[in-house]
Amino acid sequence: MLVLGIETSCDETAVGIVEDRFTVRSNVVASQVDLHAPFGGVVPELAARAHLQLMQPTIERALVEAGCRLGDVDAVAVTHGPGLAGALLVGVAAAKGLALGADLPLVGVNHLRAHVEAAQLEFGELEPPVVALVVSGGHTSLVVLEEPVADGSRPGFRQLGATIDDAAGEAFDKIARFLGLGYPGGPEIDRLARDGDPTAHDFPRPLARDGTYNFSLSGLKTAVIRELRRLEAAEVEVDLADVAASFQEAIVDVQVDKAVRAATEHDIDTVVLAGGVAANSRLRHRMAEAMEQVGGRVLVPHVQLCTDNGAMVAAAGANLLAAGEVSDLGLAADPNLALADPAGVGGIP
Ligand code: KG4
Ligand code: ZN
Repeated sequence: MLVLGIETSCDETAVGIVEDRFTVRSNVVASQVDLHAPFGGVVPELAARAHLQLMQPTIERALVEAGCRLGDVDAVAVTHGPGLAGALLVGVAAAKGLALGADLPLVGVNHLRAHVEAAQLEFGELEPPVVALVVSGGHTSLVVLEEPVADGSRPGFRQLGATIDDAAGEAFDKIARFLGLGYPGGPEIDRLARDGDPTAHDFPRPLARDGTYNFSLSGLKTAVIRELRRLEAAEVEVDLADVAASFQEAIVDVQVDKAVRAATEHDIDTVVLAGGVAANSRLRHRMAEAMEQVGGRVLVPHVQLCTDNGAMVAAAGANLLAAGEVSDLGLAADPNLALADPAGVGGIP
């Protein structure tokens, strides 16, 4: 059973083909980074137009790399939210065209769920309950993947907490821009921080001890900017690697503490790290260390499966298909699609 997954929710035009829910046959990402870099962030209108140009060649490359033809594919999965409206529309329209033209089932996939379910491509079936920390350019939430409520149904998501302001990736990107680093900023800060001292600057850890599973990042961002301006005014030479390492450590500290607490308080031994920020080397290392200390483990896929890609969409689509959940051609792009009901009821609304 081959599922082709299409991802266009932000600035990557991505197509992946997954066999039998767990095996990646191809995972092609046509990045638009160079297009958006001069603007220091994603320009939605440019992203949508670039998706239009890149869609067809990316589908073709994914088929070639998987060694198959469209006729061999059994279903088309597509991210239909959350994300940028215009960008999502291009992927959804392309998927509908393929489904209609090749007479294939169409499956609409939640982007955040796909980030979590990407882990099955490396570690096999996720055995609920697991805690998932979903950290990307647009989202920061802590959820529990719960056991299915009925035989044959899929595990549901229960949200424990989320950011009350900026997403983690957004904070990385904004601070990187302020430091004059390239775009996207996360990988740049990650690299720079390796040569820095994480204790050099004492940046705040917002909501670290508030007892909730929520996050706040805008105060941290402001604190970093204020500190840099203060040092500049005092004509103190600033070591950017120290700033990057200290800023990164403040984010990682809170995320690790809250994810580990979520696991221990719910008696769960597995944490899945998902989303683009899960590519962060310090977060991966610290989370693995902390979970080991409490006798648990972290599942964190390779970087290519953490950042936006089509294989994760194909995997999540294959899961939906296996549960008999197929979309119709009326599938709409939903920029605000939620992962779970914040009130605590599992499942995607
Ligand atoms: O999941 P993703 O590819 O796209 C969204 O769904 O948003 O996440 C992109 C975000 C960007 O903000 C990028 O800076 C961040 O993930 N990111 C990282 C790293 N690699 C990507 N942040 C920190 N460290 C990294 N190594
Ligand atoms: Zn993403």
